[in-house]
Amino acid sequence: MRIKDLVDYQKTYELSVQEPEKFWASIANEFEWSKPFTKVLDWDFNDYSVKWFEDGQLNITTNCLDRHLSSIPDQAAIIYEPNEPGDAAITLTYRELHARVCKISNVLKSQGVQKGDRVCIYMPMIPELAIAVLACARIGAIHSVVFGGFSAQSISDRINDSACKVILTTDGAVRGNKMIPMKETVDDAIALCPSVEKVIVKRRTNTPVSMLDGRDIWWDEAESEAADACEPAIMNSEDPLFILYTSGSTGKPKGVVHTCGGYMVYTAYTFENVFQYNPGEVYFCTADIGWITGHSYLVYGPLLNGAISVLFEGVPTYPDAGRFWDIIKRHQVNIFYTAPTAIRSLMGMGNEFVTNKDLSSLRVLGSVGEPLNEEAWHWYNDKVGHGNCPIVDTWWQTETGGHMISPIAGITPLKPAYATLPLPGVQPILVDENGKEIEGNGVNGNLCIKFPWPGIIRTTYGDHDRCKSTYFATYPGLYFTGDGCMRDEDGYYRITGRVDDVMNISGHRIGTAEVENAINMHTGVVESAVVGFPHDIKGQGIYAYVICEHLPENDSLMRKDILATVTRVIGPIAKPDKIQFVTGLPKTRSGKIMRRILRKVAEGEFGSLGDTSTLLDPGVVEAIISGAL
Ligand code: WT7
Repeated sequence: MRIKDLVDYQKTYELSVQEPEKFWASIANEFEWSKPFTKVLDWDFNDYSVKWFEDGQLNITTNCLDRHLSSIPDQAAIIYEPNEPGDAAITLTYRELHARVCKISNVLKSQGVQKGDRVCIYMPMIPELAIAVLACARIGAIHSVVFGGFSAQSISDRINDSACKVILTTDGAVRGNKMIPMKETVDDAIALCPSVEKVIVKRRTNTPVSMLDGRDIWWDEAESEAADACEPAIMNSEDPLFILYTSGSTGKPKGVVHTCGGYMVYTAYTFENVFQYNPGEVYFCTADIGWITGHSYLVYGPLLNGAISVLFEGVPTYPDAGRFWDIIKRHQVNIFYTAPTAIRSLMGMGNEFVTNKDLSSLRVLGSVGEPLNEEAWHWYNDKVGHGNCPIVDTWWQTETGGHMISPIAGITPLKPAYATLPLPGVQPILVDENGKEIEGNGVNGNLCIKFPWPGIIRTTYGDHDRCKSTYFATYPGLYFTGDGCMRDEDGYYRITGRVDDVMNISGHRIGTAEVENAINMHTGVVESAVVGFPHDIKGQGIYAYVICEHLPENDSLMRKDILATVTRVIGPIAKPDKIQFVTGLPKTRSGKIMRRILRKVAEGEFGSLGDTSTLLDPGVVEAIISGAL
């Protein structure tokens, strides 16, 4: 169901709102179901529950792989571009990918993994990461991918939350000129994880690792002995497909659960339409599979459409800041999808890395993860797209499963820095603090969605009440996104950023409370408060106000120590950019930290702190300001 032009978009959108069940049923029927669904939707946003295609049965990998074996068996499914530019890229055709997924499915089964079991995947960006994900899906195991940059502590928290039985990893990883231990980190993590029975280790760096007899097995040996056919498990539409942990405003990450049927329909539909993907085109998404973008738009969405998906192991600046453009040339990439933070950082490194590159294969550019500011939009448009490639600024979230508000490439008239219009099936609404709808155009408010779409979060793993209270309690009857949003005179949407205590650091979502908890683990720290502040490249940076037991004698040593603590507890992505030592924090009489004031100070706006009359001790603020100057 491909949208053809602007009029078609408007008609389709109308239909999707007037008759959502009819609309989504017709799209869902394009897939292979082992038992067709008869019931399209069942929903309740008050006592939250959503079910799509409930009585249908399917396996998502049948639709990602088997379905293409008769039509495009020898077409590339995944092109793996290794970290070293001198190493040859490796292409996996649909036939090859199918066989390898089947083998690893059989390996998982032989290691005791059954339908419904949780499997943790902690791997670098190599084809085996995608294979591991698909193998879980094939046998009905629930995958929980943990981004390769997370610490042992973060891995074990995630494993324990969902009691994973098996973890897949590698000996080590390479990113740019860095070697990163993986198995060693996993060993540290699972020392605290009683549920883990087996560890499956893919060789990547050939670094020596310890292998525990009876628990740890080598991927390569197991794969070579496994059969290359595996019947897909028959899944109910609403059976969980995966768990993906993401940060919220409290300290503990939430396990966002997506289910088989709805997620399949939604990622496939949005991939095809937003990028206007044509058969045979080469598509390159730079996201890591450890995040939702990698799940939905590197693995599932593209494969469901029989697309060619480039999987890049390295970093944008190795061996130099022209790496993305070299990959685009080498693989004749037609559609390129990346994050604003990458665009801004490459923009800052000078035009010489991009202007001499042949980027003529490009047809569509995409952006995701944070607001794409106008300056970066224009650079992307002019230097990368040469003015010929529509930019799709896609707004969505881990919880939405797929794109929500986004241009449709070549169809929606663009406006820099705008996510533009809702996709078919998406019904956004802006509300004020009291939950009252803000109607009309030229308005600002909190962004909610008032009707379910097939990719919506079903629950937070093991704690449905948390799902209800996080997303459906702030404004009863609505899904609350946590984002602020402007709707301009033309009805176009522009996301202005989070309105809760969640930061967006280089497109990574990190809760202020998580970073505070990590800083407080340092024995010399009494208390801390963390806020985001505007950062030229990262979008937001992390600013930490820290109270120490004793004023540190050596400031820089203490700073280093705190950074090391945060890296150990969460991972390097959560390291504060600025640490200010303070003797007190601005608190209300009831003991609540007034982050509003701390945000202003972090932004350098000392003159407009707003109402400080409810402060317990106004003197604290002056001390903080003088310390920040
Ligand atoms: C948050 C979700 C969606 C995949 C990557 C991030 C911000 C996302 C945009 C955009 C402005 C955006 C929002 C959202 N965000 N895309 N195009 N323009 N902001 O997924 O980690 O779940 O984070 O990222 O604040 O709530 P996530």
